[in-house]
Amino acid sequence: MLVSATEMLQKARKEKYAVGQFNINNLEWTKAILLTAEECKSPVILGVSEGAGKYMCGYNTVVGMVKGMIETLNITVPVAIHLDHGSYDGAKAAMAAGFSSIMFDGSHYPIAENIAKTTELVSEAHAKGISLEAEVGAIGGEEDGVVGSGEVADPAECKMIADLGIDFLAAGIGNIHGKYPANWQGLNFDVLAKIGEATDPMPLVLHGGTGIPADMIRKAISLGVSKINVNTECQIAFTEATRKYIEDGKDLEGKGFDPRKVLAPGVEAIKATVKEKMELFGSIGKA
Ligand code: 13P
Repeated sequence: MLVSATEMLQKARKEKYAVGQFNINNLEWTKAILLTAEECKSPVILGVSEGAGKYMCGYNTVVGMVKGMIETLNITVPVAIHLDHGSYDGAKAAMAAGFSSIMFDGSHYPIAENIAKTTELVSEAHAKGISLEAEVGAIGGEEDGVVGSGEVADPAECKMIADLGIDFLAAGIGNIHGKYPANWQGLNFDVLAKIGEATDPMPLVLHGGTGIPADMIRKAISLGVSKINVNTECQIAFTEATRKYIEDGKDLEGKGFDPRKVLAPGVEAIKATVKEKMELFGSIGKA
């Protein structure tokens, strides 16, 4: 069932669990995530970055693929197709193509411009029944080989953006995309608690879910995090399983070269990763 992410995240915030956003890259990814969500009776959010959207031949192709799979695979759990870190133009294009949820990442603009653009997009999204995520405090990550330590959001700015009528808010609390460096300081729970109080009952979003220890995930959920984004971890799991298949020489046995066989271990690895995250996030049985 294709839905916006508003209701599923409000329920998650109230009942203190989180819904996973798992980024998709192709048909195998999408199928693996949807089947796991259905098996676990968990709501799920399919994240599509602008780059992955281009790779998959545009937003129309993504929407067509997801809708087709929901029907053919009999997916009954709530599913949102969500633009991840959308630009202003990207947000408009994804809404026109039928995405059910949008993140507008205005975190690199001065706060006044972030507010102006978010305000405009929120009214367009809501007119179409689409949910909107906004961001305050850029989320760090690897850029040109340099790993930045994530920015920490200002709770007062979070309140200003939350008051624009957005549906959920991503706030930087020292989290970064990709693997965490050995000297990472961990999540800033003092700031998260302040943001949670200032914006209550708005569901909060934790980006950079890969590699955050389980105890920190649980604590973040207890402080209002209701959506957790995971991307890199599925990529690593997929690639490790695929490498093993080739290194074990399986592609050289019988019809082992058939792409459906080559990609199967990677698909199983994505399924296992997604299930593990759904267990940790507490979303199993919440559909
Ligand atoms: P990771 O790749 O670190 O899991 O982050 C995913 C993410 O936050 C997508 O927006």
